[in-house]
Amino acid sequence: MTRVFLIGFMGAGKSTIGPPLAARLGLPFLDLDHLIEEKEGRSIPQIFKEDGEPYFRAQEEAVLKQQSGSFLLSLGGGAFITPGVRAYIKETGVSLFLDLPVDLLYARVAGDENRPLAKDRDQFTALYNSRLPIYREAEVIWKNDALTAITPEEVVFQCESALTPVITRT
Ligand code: S3P
Repeated sequence: MTRVFLIGFMGAGKSTIGPPLAARLGLPFLDLDHLIEEKEGRSIPQIFKEDGEPYFRAQEEAVLKQQSGSFLLSLGGGAFITPGVRAYIKETGVSLFLDLPVDLLYARVAGDENRPLAKDRDQFTALYNSRLPIYREAEVIWKNDALTAITPEEVVFQCESALTPVITRT
């Protein structure tokens, strides 16, 4: 069984990189936010508004643990911060952290109505800074300073190269 968990802050490109990377690795692609929205029959902003963030975090952990078999799964930006999620990922698979500068991340998601935690630049940056040491617990880290343009294809290629030796060991 092979499980790859794609982690990173909002705007890191998890949903863009996830499907082609999964295809390269020969794994089905899963997106945790989409699985939660399907199960709940409502959007992430609705869940936050109607039931609050702690409810959403509990759903992340529960839905993650319901998935079976091999896959590459993209997590929402906060899921890896939940201790139970992190422990489960460390036990069952390989985590890959997409590490990009916070200014670039904010530029990508600013004003996105679907992201309740991306409304204010200072709050966004503070949240990023508080999470960064935890993201860095990932087994594999793909880092880019974004000063040079890089295509999604190149990111996928580099991530695949970084993951392959780790996956063949597990
Ligand atoms: C969140 C990130 C979002 C989504 C929710 C909470 C977070 O996913 O799960 O809005 O806490 O960082 P993306 O990382 O795909 O934007």
